[in-house]
Amino acid sequence: MTKPVYILNGPNLNLLGVREPEIYGADTLGDIESACAEMASELGVQIVFRQTNHEGELIDWIQEAREKASAVVLNPAGYGHTSVALHDALKALDAPLIEVHLSQPAAREHFRRRSYVSPLAAGTISGFGKLSYLLGLEAAVSAAGK
Ligand code: DQA
Repeated sequence: MTKPVYILNGPNLNLLGVREPEIYGADTLGDIESACAEMASELGVQIVFRQTNHEGELIDWIQEAREKASAVVLNPAGYGHTSVALHDALKALDAPLIEVHLSQPAAREHFRRRSYVSPLAAGTISGFGKLSYLLGLEAAVSAAGK
């Protein structure tokens, strides 16, 4: 696989470790990035790992991924429940998309049950904390076919 897997993170995920640890766990986003980098090297793939609090920046990165990524692992965070613009950007993505969540949104508040991402994803992995990302990366590599 010559192109990297993009692992993109939406708003507030920079606060992991201090934000509602009873829901999201003690791992920081840096811990998750390190674990993904380790798994990527075991799988022999490159990753690009980013986080933003800005909807437009996330959309810019998804558009960039159209050209540059073999697959996208996305934790859309709150934007997954609200953003038609994110849905539209993902619709234009040809590479496989894997949606990941640390928590299990379906078991939480009702407003988290809507996802503008799930209909466009090859699959969704949620509820396993850091492991959701590692499973998502493995799924992305498999879905990209290499
Ligand atoms: C989240 C779940 C979302 O409902 C929430 O808005 C987040 C994090 C998760 O990883 O569990 O910010 O995507």
